Amino acid sequence: MEISNAHQEINITPELQARIDELLGHYPDDKKKSALLPVLHEVQDAHNNWLSIPLQDKVAEILGIKPIEVYEVVTFYTMYNQKPIGKFMFEFCRTSCCAVRGAESLMDYTCEKLGVAEGQTTADGMFTIVGVECLGACGYAPMLQLGDYYYEKLDRPKMDQLIEDCRAGKIDLHKLAIRE
Ligand code: FES
Repeated sequence: MEISNAHQEINITPELQARIDELLGHYPDDKKKSALLPVLHEVQDAHNNWLSIPLQDKVAEILGIKPIEVYEVVTFYTMYNQKPIGKFMFEFCRTSCCAVRGAESLMDYTCEKLGVAEGQTTADGMFTIVGVECLGACGYAPMLQLGDYYYEKLDRPKMDQLIEDCRAGKIDLHKLAIRE
């Protein structure tokens, strides 16, 4: 995903700062950088699921590290978004097991249904579709990640239902407390 120059309002709310402080509390004062990944997740979740350069700079400031130390992490992991994305991002695994179980065809079907190409966001800002490498659920192929959840053994009817549930507001992206 390429870097974006789109404007992003930076808002470190008291609630977000408290969550960051809690995460930092897991590490010694001189090892704050160790909290970088979970802090980036929290900050991203609180900023429409993407991290602009100014926001990454803010994270560096909070952790007392150099901006480049944040950039190198954000650009390495696909779980951090460097440009605005849709409210719902379907991350299709297309590595071996998922590939032989029809991941490419399912992603193509979804792209066509939503009228976008891979890597694009629908005009209404609802959906983004990306292809990613193995997500470690190979026995449940084909699968995708949406927020904190895996959707497995997918087929076209299940994909249709998932899209419908997203539109109906039935999908909670971040229900699991998995970042403690
Ligand atoms: S190949 Fe798709 S989860 Fe591993």
